[in-house]
Amino acid sequence: MQVVVFGGSGLIGSKVVDVLQAQGHTVIAATRKQGVDVVTGEGLAAVLQNAEIVIDTTDAPSFEDNAARSFFETATGNIIAAAKNSGVRHYIALSVVGTHKLQNSGYFQGKLKQEALIKASGIPYTIARATQFYEFVLLIAQAATTGQQVRLPSAKLQPIAAIDVATAIAEIAASNAYNGIVDIAGPEQIALSEFARSALLAQQDAREVITDESALYVQTFKIDDTTLTPEYHTLLGTTHLQAWLADPSRTFK
Ligand SMILES: NC(=O)c1ccc[n+]([C@@H]2O[C@H](COP(=O)([O-])OP(=O)(O)OC[C@H]3O[C@@H](n4cnc5c(N)ncnc54)[C@H](OP(=O)(O)O)[C@@H]3O)[C@@H](O)[C@H]2O)c1
Repeated sequence: MQVVVFGGSGLIGSKVVDVLQAQGHTVIAATRKQGVDVVTGEGLAAVLQNAEIVIDTTDAPSFEDNAARSFFETATGNIIAAAKNSGVRHYIALSVVGTHKLQNSGYFQGKLKQEALIKASGIPYTIARATQFYEFVLLIAQAATTGQQVRLPSAKLQPIAAIDVATAIAEIAASNAYNGIVDIAGPEQIALSEFARSALLAQQDAREVITDESALYVQTFKIDDTTLTPEYHTLLGTTHLQAWLADPSRTFK
């Protein structure tokens, strides 16, 4: 099958390209470097010419409310228009578990709009909502840091290694369109405060993690055990957090 991966230079997209290529598929990593811009629309028609499957793993360059909302709306509209003209038979987009519960942020309003546009497009689709990537944990800790203290609640997460997200997306690409939401999550649940504590310990980072039920996730969201944990049909990763942290080749965002 011929697959076009938007965001093919990113953390998840580059791994999706590698996994699909290793499985013998024809894969095009559609990147700005190669003249494909999902915001301006440049290069979209050409790159999608013979595409059967589109995978969108792009991310907004800015998390500022208006910029992020505008990115997802514009990019998705452009990809849909080009995909309709080329006869794409499965449109897969990477979203975030709990997106509909995080609507006090322009970023997640943009993600929900992205999902809605794809659903309404008439193209067979799968929305793949992933949980937090292990690679993202230091950014979560950083956002919660004051001085040498990191304050986070004990609400449960079910985080996942980026490679397992990519493997799950490749599995979705090899299946019929779900025409709905599929969640992608790690093999175990962990308290958010413990997630950060484990990563800082592995990094020999001396910051102290304090479990604080009044603390917000990324300084924005009041969360509980249901906010960021999967609720739809879920594809589970196999890499456990402690094994990932113990792997010297791991990288953080
Ligand atoms: N962080 C998490 O824990 C988490 C959890 C669940 C889901 N997600 C979702 O996962 C997705 C991917 O995340 P990621 O960490 O893999 O992202 P990333 O590493 O930041 O990569 C983003 C990609 O988007 C591309 N891009 C940005 N603007 C573009 C444009 N105008 N035209 C074409 N390409 C453009 C970038 O390409 P360039 O090389 O051209 O910049 C890059 O390849 C996001 O949509 C996010 O919402 C994230």
